[in-house]
Amino acid sequence: LVIVFFQTTGQLVFEEFLRTEYSEENLLFWLACEDYKKITSDTEMTVAAKRIYTEFVQVDAPRQINIDFVTREEIAENISQPSPNSFDRAQRLIYGLMENNCYPRFLKSEIYQALLEQSEQQ
Ligand SMILES: *[C@@H]1O[C@H](CO)[C@@H](O)[C@H](O)[C@H]1NC(C)=O
Repeated sequence: LVIVFFQTTGQLVFEEFLRTEYSEENLLFWLACEDYKKITSDTEMTVAAKRIYTEFVQVDAPRQINIDFVTREEIAENISQPSPNSFDRAQRLIYGLMENNCYPRFLKSEIYQALLEQSEQQ
């Protein structure tokens, strides 16, 4: 999974695959959290935490991720005083979901097989 995240092409293809599976929000959330953790200014962190919450976490968010009620509540509490770790557990949950669920299917998918063939031809 790590390899795909750090190869831009692979990432784009995985994103495309998740889109066909209607679960790209998982990857986008994970990536948003990675960016979030790099923020050093408190003000920026507060803004970014709210944005992630609105986009991915809250009920009826445009890209609502699949997390349980308790986790959602915990995040809501966390972002009232944001820290670089505010989304840690949620991010781990989503990573686990992608790894166990989406990634094995991705490796078997036509889209990935096509990518493999392409790279073998180069
Ligand atoms: C909430 O924040 C704490 C650290 O402040 C972190 O350890 C925990 O994983 C966060 N919860 C979620 C759901 O990400």
